[in-house]
Amino acid sequence: MKITNKPTKPKGRLGVLMPGIGAVATTFIAGVESVRRNLAKPYGSLTQMGTVRLGKRTENRIPAIKDLVPLAELDDLVFGGWDIFEDNSYEAALKAGVLDKELLDQVKPFLEGIRPMKAVFDQKYVKKLSGNWVKEGESWYDLAEQLIEDIDSFKKQHGCDRLVMVWCASTEIFMKPSQIHQELASFEKGLKKRSPEIAPSMVYAYASISAGVPFANGAPNLTTDVPALIELAREKNVPIAGKDFKTGQTLMKTILAPGLKARLLGLNGWFSTNILGNRDGEVLDDPESFKTKEESKLSVLEYILQPQLYPELYDDFYHKVRINYYPPRGDNKEGWDNLDIFGWLGYPMQIKIDFLCRDSILAAPIVLDLALFMDLAQRLGMRGIQEWLSFYFKSPMHAPELYPEHDLFIQLMKLKNTLRYIQGEDLITHLGQEYYD
Ligand SMILES: NC(=O)c1ccc[n+]([C@@H]2O[C@H](COP(=O)([O-])OP(=O)(O)OC[C@H]3O[C@@H](n4cnc5c(N)ncnc54)[C@H](O)[C@@H]3O)[C@@H](O)[C@H]2O)c1
Repeated sequence: MKITNKPTKPKGRLGVLMPGIGAVATTFIAGVESVRRNLAKPYGSLTQMGTVRLGKRTENRIPAIKDLVPLAELDDLVFGGWDIFEDNSYEAALKAGVLDKELLDQVKPFLEGIRPMKAVFDQKYVKKLSGNWVKEGESWYDLAEQLIEDIDSFKKQHGCDRLVMVWCASTEIFMKPSQIHQELASFEKGLKKRSPEIAPSMVYAYASISAGVPFANGAPNLTTDVPALIELAREKNVPIAGKDFKTGQTLMKTILAPGLKARLLGLNGWFSTNILGNRDGEVLDDPESFKTKEESKLSVLEYILQPQLYPELYDDFYHKVRINYYPPRGDNKEGWDNLDIFGWLGYPMQIKIDFLCRDSILAAPIVLDLALFMDLAQRLGMRGIQEWLSFYFKSPMHAPELYPEHDLFIQLMKLKNTLRYIQGEDLITHLGQEYYD
């Protein structure tokens, strides 16, 4: 990927726009404000707490990521977004029930000031939701133009120098790329005809990219993962990334599976089930939205374990993923995994995991990192798919001739090497021969 501009310290405010002011978005916004006021720490965020080793191990040069590359400061972030419900972000955060009321009350006036703009929505694409805070327009194209107006007026109103958009809205129904998505011209015709093959998330993505605003997709929807929008991103010199924040059970899978493969331990089956009771869980109770999520979750093991290279270990392993909507748990998901593995001489063993996780607590720092890194990419002139940000996604977008990289450790190495590359530092191979000459 070409870097056309030199990395320099950004000036002015960065606006973070989010379609979907729900659990993830409000946990992110309230979290950043709490960190700015020293009420809490940004655990889980690479941009705030991560380091990168530079040069030889003997040099002892290990700067913080935020000191290595010129990222926007937390104090320079402003927030906005769209939702189909009119609730301000304090009310939405209370309903989401992720953060304690005690913490939310300390940042209440700030959160109350963040009110969603009217959404582009059609219930056909998210069956379990209906809301009335929705824009009206003849065609998708009209609606995209209204979104571009929202983007422009947000930028002016908040005195922003730059913007990024991160999709934090509900998971849409499963869609496959079709003819209309192959070229920008046919996609734009489809927008004008309100084609059913275009989902609202694509309208936001189209508006964002057309307005020169980087777009990251936190849900598994197809959205920008189609040639027409990739073409638009390249044409407009805009970075795009996706799909589906890597949190919870899939994060665990991409931590464990590389370890099993490294030790050549075989796999007979991996059964994953979840209970969760937030709005996301309710949306995923619809089979068509669940199908989108299921596809995103299932592909991970196939790519990491490479059964084509290790047929004796990984051919025909049984992989099942279930999500059960169970309201009493709210956002505090419980995910169980049972792995049937085998080792030396074929002797069977089992691993059981019970992850009592908090979905949005894992997702919020990802939104922050993506906002800062996408803004960095934009300033450096890195256009199109940002594969180096695969670390954050369950189904990373990638060039058509490549397979996606899912192994969390390779993804982290790719990300850190990209940061070294941006700063003109040597890439790290971990060879280490030079210490023994
Ligand atoms: N929480 C996680 O760990 C996690 C991980 C991976 C992906 N995700 C994805 O992130 C998204 C957000 O998750 P959440 O837990 O915040 O869900 P949520 O239901 O709390 O919030 C989503 C919000 O989007 C709104 N919305 C739906 N369609 C919209 C549209 N077209 N325009 C504007 N707003 C719209 C809903 O009204 C809702 O307020 C979901 O798609 C989820 O699958 C979440």
